[in-house]
Amino acid sequence: MRPVITWGDPRLKRVSEDVGAWSPELEQLVTDLFETGYAEEGLGIAAPQVGVNLNLAVVDLSCGQDPGQRTVLVNPEIVHEEGVQKGPEGCLSIPGIHEVLERPKKVRVKNRRRDGSWEELEGEDLLARAYCHEIDHLRGRLFVEYFGPVKRQVIKRKYDKSRKG
Ligand code: NI
Repeated sequence: MRPVITWGDPRLKRVSEDVGAWSPELEQLVTDLFETGYAEEGLGIAAPQVGVNLNLAVVDLSCGQDPGQRTVLVNPEIVHEEGVQKGPEGCLSIPGIHEVLERPKKVRVKNRRRDGSWEELEGEDLLARAYCHEIDHLRGRLFVEYFGPVKRQVIKRKYDKSRKG
């Protein structure tokens, strides 16, 4: 497990760098990301959220219940989007905040496997939302940044209040 950095930390705003050759350190990072995500009950978590600015993220909609749903995103890129869905979204780096946000209904993601070969992943509904959300983290973008300044201010106040307990 690694500590999750939160909204306001400048490391969340950086554009991450591509992952190079696979290594035991990267494998450890993947393990830590899954464990951290499960402990925080998230559906996914990106490396920048633990302070590592690499294009690496994990997604598991089953939150550890189904090993078949563990996905490791390496240098991922959305190559196709289709349709629109509207639903609540949250982020481990903005605990306590859930806001309705539009996302594509379906996406296709070009993704590098650990061995360096490429695959294409398809995601629909919640999975499409998770892919979009995690890939945004790699570009330095948090989901609250989709909202205009007024709404974002309201969310920030709500967030700050909840953080003070
Ligand atoms: Ni997030």
